[in-house]
Amino acid sequence: MTSSTIPLGAEGPTGHKGLANPTSLRPAPNGKPQRTCVVTGAAGFIGSHLCERLVGEGWRVRGIDAFTDSYDPAEKLSRAAALMRLDGFSLHCGDMASMPLDEILSGSEVVFHLGGRPGVRPSFDIEARYVSDNVVSTARLLEAATRCEVRRVVYASSSSVYGNGARPFSEEGECGPISPYGRTKLEAERACLGAAGQGLEAVALRYFTVYGPRQRPDMGIRIFAEAALQDRPLRLLGDGSQIRDFTYVADIVEATVAAADAPGASGLAINVGGGSTVSLIEVLSLISDLTGKALDVRKEAFARGDVFATEANLDRARSILGFSAKVPFEEGLAQEISWVADHLESKERVAA
Ligand SMILES: NC(=O)c1ccc[n+]([C@@H]2O[C@H](COP(=O)([O-])OP(=O)(O)OC[C@H]3O[C@@H](n4cnc5c(N)ncnc54)[C@H](O)[C@@H]3O)[C@@H](O)[C@H]2O)c1
Repeated sequence: MTSSTIPLGAEGPTGHKGLANPTSLRPAPNGKPQRTCVVTGAAGFIGSHLCERLVGEGWRVRGIDAFTDSYDPAEKLSRAAALMRLDGFSLHCGDMASMPLDEILSGSEVVFHLGGRPGVRPSFDIEARYVSDNVVSTARLLEAATRCEVRRVVYASSSSVYGNGARPFSEEGECGPISPYGRTKLEAERACLGAAGQGLEAVALRYFTVYGPRQRPDMGIRIFAEAALQDRPLRLLGDGSQIRDFTYVADIVEATVAAADAPGASGLAINVGGGSTVSLIEVLSLISDLTGKALDVRKEAFARGDVFATEANLDRARSILGFSAKVPFEEGLAQEISWVADHLESKERVAA
């Protein structure tokens, strides 16, 4: 999608008009001077949660999203529509790899850079899209952030940069991504950290498998929960022994907000994990318990590019961000299943 802004509101730097909530110029609810930030990937799974949290804390948030075809754009549009109802949020539609960015970034103190193309498996087939959405977009954003005197960029990196490294993954250890996705995330992360100290502060948060309400439809827990609730057979890629350090979305948001101001964070990559490791077999068993359904699991070959196990060393997150995950896996899983059930129900209502 090319850069486009729709002049429905007045919010925006130097006359730039984005899709804005008309009451977005109110003072911060806590009476403090209002802070302004940009969130890229605002209509995405994690970005939409982050925007809600920031607006709730009184930030003025300028969201950017291209509504790419990585999955059904209707999900992104519906998240964006909900954000548009919040005071202090405005939306700028366009592709960061080509759209004008300076007007949106001018006057912003922090850029939370979550926009990009996620997903390991498709990255083998459409690598050029990953390079454009993850690497080119990040390079353009960093250039604009430096020109516009943004104080800090917080980048959403990924545990995929580690590949099948020694566990627990530590930021001082080797990176060895085994998919084009992981390689593009590492390249973008290095660009961010390389820009740190050259007129810009930058932090890269390495997120570990994020789950919770509004999770992307291509991610495991969402796929498993939908199949269970709809009494459909469920495809499991591999034997289920794969292990993931699952992180609840509210915990990810907590760490991301902390990274905006944490002293000593600039120039660092920091792991953000849920603090407990769970196998896919255990995930399926919990989904069966929580939905009350017997699962019809069909095992298939391991997927290319999927690492065997992930586990975050969280020492740096604790010491620099003061972060520790609060939501236990079973509790977060119940939250996601409840959201998936509601989501399926509302889709059925619309279809009826
Ligand atoms: N979900 C996870 O488990 C996870 C784990 C590690 C890292 N991450 C990273 O966190 C970020 C958010 O992930 P998510 O799961 O919310 O994904 P998501 O796909 O739901 O959100 C990303 C958003 O970025 C937008 N986007 C993509 N390319 C763009 C471009 N060129 N210009 C403007 N907007 C663009 C998309 O339309 C989408 O709405 C991504 O950068 C991802 O790599 C996610």
